[in-house]
Order: sequence, then C-alpha cells, then structure tokens
Amino acid sequence: MNGSTASEGAAADEQSHGHARRSHDPDAAIADRRTEGPAAAGSDPERAPLPPGPDGVPVLGTLPRFVRDPFAFYDRLFAYGDVVSYDFGLWNNVTLFHPDDVQRVLVDDADRFRKSHVQRRSGVDFLENGLLLTEGEEWREQRTQLQPLFYREKIETFAGAMVEEARELVDSWDDGEVVDLVDAYSTLAMRVLGRTLFGVDVHDGDGYEVIRRAATSVQERADAGSVTAFLPDWVPTPANRRFARDTDAFREYVDRLVRERRGSDPADADDLLTLLVGLGEGDALSDEAVRDQLMTFLFAGHETTSLALSYATHALARRPDIADDLRAEAAAAGDLDAAAIRSLDLTDRVVSESLRTYPPAYVLFREPTEDVVVGGYRIPAGTNISLPIWRLHTDPRWWDDPESFDPSRWLDEDPDRPEHAYLPFGAGPRHCIGMRFASLELRATLATVFREIAFDPVPADAGEPSFEAAATLQPSEPLRVRVSKR
Ligand code: HEM
Repeated sequence: MNGSTASEGAAADEQSHGHARRSHDPDAAIADRRTEGPAAAGSDPERAPLPPGPDGVPVLGTLPRFVRDPFAFYDRLFAYGDVVSYDFGLWNNVTLFHPDDVQRVLVDDADRFRKSHVQRRSGVDFLENGLLLTEGEEWREQRTQLQPLFYREKIETFAGAMVEEARELVDSWDDGEVVDLVDAYSTLAMRVLGRTLFGVDVHDGDGYEVIRRAATSVQERADAGSVTAFLPDWVPTPANRRFARDTDAFREYVDRLVRERRGSDPADADDLLTLLVGLGEGDALSDEAVRDQLMTFLFAGHETTSLALSYATHALARRPDIADDLRAEAAAAGDLDAAAIRSLDLTDRVVSESLRTYPPAYVLFREPTEDVVVGGYRIPAGTNISLPIWRLHTDPRWWDDPESFDPSRWLDEDPDRPEHAYLPFGAGPRHCIGMRFASLELRATLATVFREIAFDPVPADAGEPSFEAAATLQPSEPLRVRVSKR
C-alpha cells in the first residue's frame, strides 16, 4: 500500500509499486469549485479563453509528471478547476472533472466529439473496424445490426451458461487453496464469452484455446503500457511473432465457424457469431467484418468483466459482514435462473458499489472535431479530452465518504447528485453495448460463488489494492484470497 501524500517526492517513490488513488488531496478539496469560465464567452470558441492548467518542462510538457504517478497527476489537475489543460509534448490535453461537462461531451453534444487518437491507434487492425472504434455512419450501422443480441430477453438466455461456468470455477478450487482472483476470473469471463459470442463448446477441442490465445495477444498489444504497442507489426520481437501466430490461427478458426454457420436465420441467433453471419442481403457482412467484430467484443468484454469480478470479490473478502449477507441472499433465492438473479437486491448494490469504487474502464477519451466551448473554456479541435471516471466516482462533492466500500449508499437515490457522476459503462450513444450482459454476469457469478465459498484475503494482499494506470484499471499486485468451502 502506498503513502497518501500528494507530494511529488512521495509520488516518485511509488514508481515501481503501483499507485494508490487519492481523491482527498488537501490542495484540491475545494468545497464548491464549479468553474463557469468567463460568462461573457457564451458558446463562441473565438471569445472563450483556454482552460487553466499546470505548465510542464520544455519539449515533454507535463508528461514526466504523469508517467511518475498518473493518479497523483490527476489529483493535482483537480486543484485547477473542472476544466484543466496541459501538454504532453505535442499533444494537447484537457481533463473534465464535472459531470455536467462529461454529459455534454458524451451525451448532449456527442456528434461533435469522436474517439480520441489516443484510443484509435490501438495497433490492432482487428479492432479498428469494430464497434468500439469506428465512427459516424459506419458505427451507427454496426450498432443497429448488433443491438438485437443485447436486448434484455436475449441476454437473460445466457444466465444458465454464466451460472454453470461459475459453478465449475467453484468446483475447481480446493478448500484452503489460495487463488489469484484476476487469473481465475479471466478464465471464467473468457469461457462465458466463448460460449455466448462464438457458441463454441469450451470443454471440447482446440477452438476455445485458439480464441483465448488470440484475445490475450491482442490485449497485450493494445495495452498502452506495453512497449510492443508502439512497435510496428513487422518487427520480429517475440511478442510480435506470437501475435502473428495467434491471430492467424484465430482467422482460420473463425473462417471455419463462419462457413459452418452461413445460411442460418438471424432470428434464431443465440450467439453473436450466428447473428453476424445470418444478417440479411443488404446487411450481409464479409468474413473479415465478422472476425473484426468478434475480436472487438472479446477485447471489450473480457478484461473489463474479469477485473470487475476480481475487485468485487476482494472488497467482499475484506468485508465479511457484507459477504455473509450476500451469501444468505443467494441461498434464499433458490435456483439461480434469470428471474432469481434479478431479485438479488444486495448483490445488485454490491455490483454498483464495486463499479463505483473500482471502475475497470476508469478513464474515457474523446476529441472535438471542431473548436468547442465546454464549461466556459475553449477546447480546440483535436485536443485529447480525458474523462476520469474513477475521479467522478470518488468526488466528495457528490459522494459521502467516497473511499469507503458501502453498498448501502445505493438504497436511496441522492436527488442532488448529477446524473453523470456515475458512469462505469460510459454514457450517451456510445455507452457499453455489453452493459446488461456484464451486469447479469457479475450478479450471477457473485451469487453462485459466494453461496459456496468464504474468502479471506491473504495477509500480504489484505489492504486496499493499489493500481497501474494501464488501458484498464489493473491491480499492481495480485489480488489473492484463501478459499474456504462451506
Ligand atoms: C464490467 C464490465 C464492463 C465495463 C466496465 C465496460 C465498460 C465500457 C465503457 C465505459 C464503454 C464506453 C467506452 C467509451 O465511451 O469510450 C464500453 C463500450 C463497449 N463495450 Fe463494454 N464494458 C464491460 C463489459 C462489456 C462486455 C461484456 C461486452 C461484450 C459482450 C462489452 C462490449 C463493449 C463494446 C462493443 C463497446 C463499444 C460500444 C460502442 O462504441 O458502440 N463490454 N464498455
């Protein structure tokens, strides 16, 4: 666990140990700090001033400070107001801390902002043509085609597969065993996606292994923290060779599945692959487009879900009182079918609280396609705008005792809290298409697992986790717990 001072000296010490997230920097705790910007500016970018922010060193700007400890860096930005600008070398950045400004970018004025260049250069062609990164008309068409698979009735047909996979995970553990949660849930999330997206039998044959390896290679390459993400594909590093081998195998395997499914009726689709290959004449997709979409869904749905499950389980291991209540609720629910899972109120609150405290997608990026005014300040076209989700989720202006894990805060709505102070799945037209899927999987898994297992954090990992600022919110140390079977 790291110290809690925001001084840069302390930040430097933290370099190799992951980072604690602090939202109570005394400099930044300003009671009412809504920055309206100069009122006269109105919405005219020509008249509005640029946002305030820290100066950096020549050439690199504030990048060195960011690299040293990204979470402390955001804390310092917060002290400048709700709209803050800074440079990383040639990149101009703005961070927005107010939920109303986030709403403006993601919801009200979404057409004037696109995914930022920081995200678009994923280095993986599979992803660049899929739903996560396409723009404009192309994105709209894809979203319309894919939406039917994510209606609630459809998603709920996956509940059985989710519960079965969670049960198998529980059965694979021995009493007293120490398990690494991220490893365990990564396998679980991949198996659920293998069954529900690809319709493959994850217990049989090599198919599942091919999918798992390709997804791991793509994740590795796209991870902003990984050096290989910045090397072109043809450089024969071991990671690049692995990437080429694993993604070739994935192409071959999916092509075979596509041939097998061609001609099926999309109305009967109970997996994403069947839906995609069964799209009618005008909408028909090439084999390549089908592959890109499948990989996008693996990429967007795998790690996010496994991290959410890991943080929730670790938080509950540290709070046995809540875990006991959750166990009692799951035991009383009988067979865990979709309706029973829907009735699990405490489990639902635990999921909400876990996604508030540890949002796997902890920062989103956009860029304006033209000069815009946000919060009274001018943001030039092409600026990289970051929306720090975890900061909004722990801002003391909207949350009482924001650092404490307290599912009971979800019992009553706070009428004064702005709507977009909480957005673990994003917001607006590009919010997470897998939101219902993930929410069902989190509840189904926690209920199944906690019904049969009590967890104790192993002493070395018993505190609040600390974090790496990778593409998703990663724990910097393994989250390990000891399993006791009931
Ligand atoms: C706890 C788990 C998950 C979290 C926290 C999460 C979070 C998010 C967030 C914040 C976005 C918006 C990104 C942005 O605006 O830039 C997003 C988009 C997306 N998510 Fe998820 N997600 C999760 C699970 C899933 C699952 C299970 C799937 C697929 C089965 C999925 C598929 C997608 C896709 C395809 C998009 C892009 C949607 C679009 O741009 O139209 N996600 N997710």
